[in-house]
Amino acid sequence: MRVDLLLGLQWGDEGKGKIVDVLTGNYDIIARFQGGPNAGHTLEFDGIKHVLHTIPSGIFHPTATNLVGNGVVIDPVIFRRELEKLEDFPIDVRKNLLISRKAHLILPTHRLLDAASEASKGKAKIGSTLKGIGPTYMDKTGRNGLRVGDLELPDWKERYRALADKHEKMIHFYDVDIQYNLKELEAEFLEALENLRQLKFIDSEAYLHQALADGKKILAEGAQGSLLDIDFGTYPFVTSSNTTAAGACTGLGIAPGSIGEVFGIFKAYTTRVGSGPFPTELFDEDGATMGRVGREFGATTGRPRRCGWLDLVALKYAVKVNGVTQLMMMKADVLSGFDTIKVCTAYHYKGEKITHLPYTLEAEHLTPIYTEMKGWKEDLTGMTAEDQLPTALQQYIAFLERELDTPVRIVSVGPDRVQTIQR
Ligand code: GDP
Ligand code: IMO
Ligand code: MG
Repeated sequence: MRVDLLLGLQWGDEGKGKIVDVLTGNYDIIARFQGGPNAGHTLEFDGIKHVLHTIPSGIFHPTATNLVGNGVVIDPVIFRRELEKLEDFPIDVRKNLLISRKAHLILPTHRLLDAASEASKGKAKIGSTLKGIGPTYMDKTGRNGLRVGDLELPDWKERYRALADKHEKMIHFYDVDIQYNLKELEAEFLEALENLRQLKFIDSEAYLHQALADGKKILAEGAQGSLLDIDFGTYPFVTSSNTTAAGACTGLGIAPGSIGEVFGIFKAYTTRVGSGPFPTELFDEDGATMGRVGREFGATTGRPRRCGWLDLVALKYAVKVNGVTQLMMMKADVLSGFDTIKVCTAYHYKGEKITHLPYTLEAEHLTPIYTEMKGWKEDLTGMTAEDQLPTALQQYIAFLERELDTPVRIVSVGPDRVQTIQR
């Protein structure tokens, strides 16, 4: 048995939550392997919309086990709010939601450090979600972090205190104006930890190895997107974890040879939230239309997402870095009504035409070269089968499959579970 991966190929918000929910029926275990509450994964079914941040997107299926893996960073306060939102549903979280002992905890002071770091950068800020992601992963790699399993040890409170005290000194070092009441934040944190303790903490790598031996089917759910990867993304405007396929191995403790299908998910166009280069970004009416029709607002922060045409140069790179075996194209419905669809197939870069992703994507050196394709007018949102899709869209898909040398297996035509066409 193998572990299949589902990964975002752009700058996040590709629709991972929706597709994990759609695919969960085929799996026994859904496992998140990196990121934390910077993620916002949206699911829609039965007229209800849910946004998950840390909890895997298989949680609404009563037979699936959902695992928060060792590579994830957990904010107990946000986690508690997420759990409370699930209370209206018949979900047994004691049974269906497991937490890795090796997952790191986001402390209130990590969030403050994130804010202080961003404030100190001024215009050069990353546009972080301010959830404390960077500082928590820094403490992980700096070997200072507090892990979920530490909560079972007698001295965890002293360790917490020592780390939080150190963070306070670091916040002062930034010398920026950040207002906070640490006593209140700590009280909320400690209360949320008690809540977290109601869940089962496990040695998740051993659990997954046994599950594989027992023939269980596992889907690893990525967060963020490949271009936000700490190594392969548009550094420094990235997140602090490996969002690409290799991150699933380190974030779950599974061997490369255990990986089966790699599902790569992308929007029919491109969006980005936060700062950083975005070669195909549109500042015109077309970009505004994508944002309006696609309801492009961050699921975690509510910030408007920047929109632009599909960047095939970047997408090819993401397909290669991840070893994608199947593609899923999302939000095709949002492009209905455009006379022409543009796809970036190369860049003008420092006087040359290139078809690979260069070291830096900054606009002063780089302009996108577009291929234009015929658009379509039909409303796709009620379509249920491939043969109903307009010819121009089918041509668009065929073009992408050729260019990316990978089949497109799912075309999503709306946010709801049922608005999903399998090919
Ligand atoms: P994720 O972070 O990758 O899970 O994606 P987000 O949930 O942050 O953003 C995707 C947004 O697009 C959500 O609001 C989804 O409900 C919505 N969505 C997903 N697929 C489709 C689709 O095919 N068409 C439209 N119109 N919306 C979609
Ligand atoms: P999902 O899983 C889109 C972006 C932030 C910022 C940068 C660093 O919903 O696709 P961080 O808080 O990680 O320090 O922010 O990464 N970012 C996301 N953008 N979707 C996400 O998650 C994101 N998680 C982080 O906007 O630019
Ligand atoms: Mg999102």
